Amino acid sequence: MTIQKTINQTIEFVKKEFKNAESGHDWWHIYRVWKMSKNLAEYYPDTDHLVIELAALLHDVADEKFENAIEKLGELEAYITNLPITETQKEHIIHIIKGLSFRKSFEHQPERTIEFQIVQDADRLDAIGAIGIARAFSFGGFKGREMYNPDIKPNSFKNSNEYQKSTSPTINHFYEKLFLLKDMMNTEIAKQMAEVRHRFMEKYLHQFYDEWEGKK
Ligand code: ADP
Ligand code: NI
Repeated sequence: MTIQKTINQTIEFVKKEFKNAESGHDWWHIYRVWKMSKNLAEYYPDTDHLVIELAALLHDVADEKFENAIEKLGELEAYITNLPITETQKEHIIHIIKGLSFRKSFEHQPERTIEFQIVQDADRLDAIGAIGIARAFSFGGFKGREMYNPDIKPNSFKNSNEYQKSTSPTINHFYEKLFLLKDMMNTEIAKQMAEVRHRFMEKYLHQFYDEWEGKK
């Protein structure tokens, strides 16, 4: 099987997995992370681009926020086992996916290969900027949360459990997560992109607060 065929087959597998997904976290999120990963990979010619592409495509299939994450992880491992790639590549892909899906970043750091760093940056970039804003409101709506409530101040979370249980308004999510992401980028190029997206979100919030108070 050619590399292109392996990628196309994986795209079909992922599309099926995400058929009924909420719109901030659907096939199109995967598509954007895949595209961004390929873009970032161009700056790192000595990395394994096939591992990057496959890990990007598969990174959210077994996301720990879904109840059936463990079952999905089994399904995913079976899928990866059958791919026509080396054992080392298979292990590398599984390592990246586990590191990204299971919010271990609060507790311990998995080994960060460049391939890991690139997919993580791409995933984090998709949470900020214009798309990030849209995803936050989509997620908040899906969870029935308030858009904004000036009486509820943002929290800072001590662990992943506290973060997951949060019911705060969507605007608070900017302070609780989105504005922190720019300083968490691994690669130089992603840092530059994150800077631009970050400034866009700041500008957006200024306008939002002005409109909230009937100014402008
Ligand atoms: P990912 O799996 O892509 O790393 P998450 O699963 O944490 O990210 O979140 C998916 C999307 O929903 C992201 O864009 C994130 O910012 C948004 N989101 C997560 N939690 C909240 C929240 N409490 N309020 C608003 N948006 C949220
Ligand atoms: Ni993701």
